[in-house]
Amino acid sequence: MASIKLSNVCKSYGGLEVMRDVSFDIEDGEFVVLVGPSGCGKSTLIRMIAGLEEISSGEVMIDDKQVNNVSAKDRDIAMVFQSYALYPHMNVEQNMGFSLRIDGRPKDEIRKKVAEAAEALELTPLLRRKPGQLSGGQRQRVAMGRAIVRDPRAFLFDEPLSNLDAQLRVQMRAEITLMQKKYKTTTVYVTHDQVEAMTMADRIVVLRAGRVEQVGTPLDLFDQPQNIFVARFLGSPQMNFIPGVIEARGGQCFFKAEGVDVEIAAAYANHDGLAVQLGIRPSHVYRTRLGGEGALQAKIAFLENTGSETMLKLDLQGHAIQCVINERLSEQQGDAMIVSFDPDCLHLFDARTEQRLDAGVKK
Ligand SMILES: Nc1ncnc2c1ncn2[C@@H]1O[C@H](COP(=O)(O)OP(=O)(O)OP(=O)(O)O)[C@@H](O)[C@H]1O
Ligand SMILES: [Mg+2]
Repeated sequence: MASIKLSNVCKSYGGLEVMRDVSFDIEDGEFVVLVGPSGCGKSTLIRMIAGLEEISSGEVMIDDKQVNNVSAKDRDIAMVFQSYALYPHMNVEQNMGFSLRIDGRPKDEIRKKVAEAAEALELTPLLRRKPGQLSGGQRQRVAMGRAIVRDPRAFLFDEPLSNLDAQLRVQMRAEITLMQKKYKTTTVYVTHDQVEAMTMADRIVVLRAGRVEQVGTPLDLFDQPQNIFVARFLGSPQMNFIPGVIEARGGQCFFKAEGVDVEIAAAYANHDGLAVQLGIRPSHVYRTRLGGEGALQAKIAFLENTGSETMLKLDLQGHAIQCVINERLSEQQGDAMIVSFDPDCLHLFDARTEQRLDAGVKK
């Protein structure tokens, strides 16, 4: 097992800078997920940790030892790819034992290690089959088994589930998480699926255009996104945003936009007059039957019943917002609806910098 530390890692291809000053630590035994949109540098970063890609500047440390110039095979890290990269002419047992054979390990040891991993991954009955005779999920397990038998210091996964159908993804997601808990091997896992990130990670690293936007536990990132990008990236349906200003009056503080007046913590008063975006997640918009304090008049633009919940698109005084309600409604498209925002779940972002505003902290 190993800790991994990245310090000011940069990467350029020719003149094109694709990773900028990336720094974060991965603790021994931790499951860290890298997320971000396509092209943000997830694969590049994980390949740099594996040693498959040189870094242009900065430092990669594994267990307090700088490995910038250590080759991939000497880093003792196993990587599982999206494409599995199994050898089609070898059976499952041969595929799983391949790297140990290359290392010249004794036959008995190879057989024992492969048998153990096959047992843990429920592959024992399939050991004689060739990859072409396996399902996608089974192939994925063989790819994992091949990594496990090497007893590596860390696992690196690059979108290992993206070729699987939705149901199998959910199943494999659980299996990989359980596997990691069992072996407690330091793991870095790349995905652009935010549900995978939220459910599998001890900590998530959100990347955007080669930079780290935020590092934290899934719930930290969900509850306290540091900027609009992270707020939008995690959570489905996405967080709603309403542009407006902060207004301090009569010892209280409000978010004000066209037709919207919402009380916010009085401590935001020192941002009086600041242009902001108010963020509110669809599940924190409540339907209310009462008017009065905090009530907002909306119109139902679109309504979808999923059986267990109702998804609504609302026209809130000209602002389009989404809302998810855990009940069935008698209202229909075009009807009026009164809503309120959960006062404990409001997020405020500086409209110019898009960074989170914290109450009482002067910018
Ligand atoms: N060999 C290369 N030469 C030049 N540019 C490259 C090379 N490999 C990757 N890039 C560029 O580096 C950036 C990051 O690519 P990378 O593959 O790491 O993204 P990613 O986050 O893994 O994307 P995806 O989600 O699509 O897999 C992209 O702009 C890509 O075009
Ligand atoms: Mg990639």
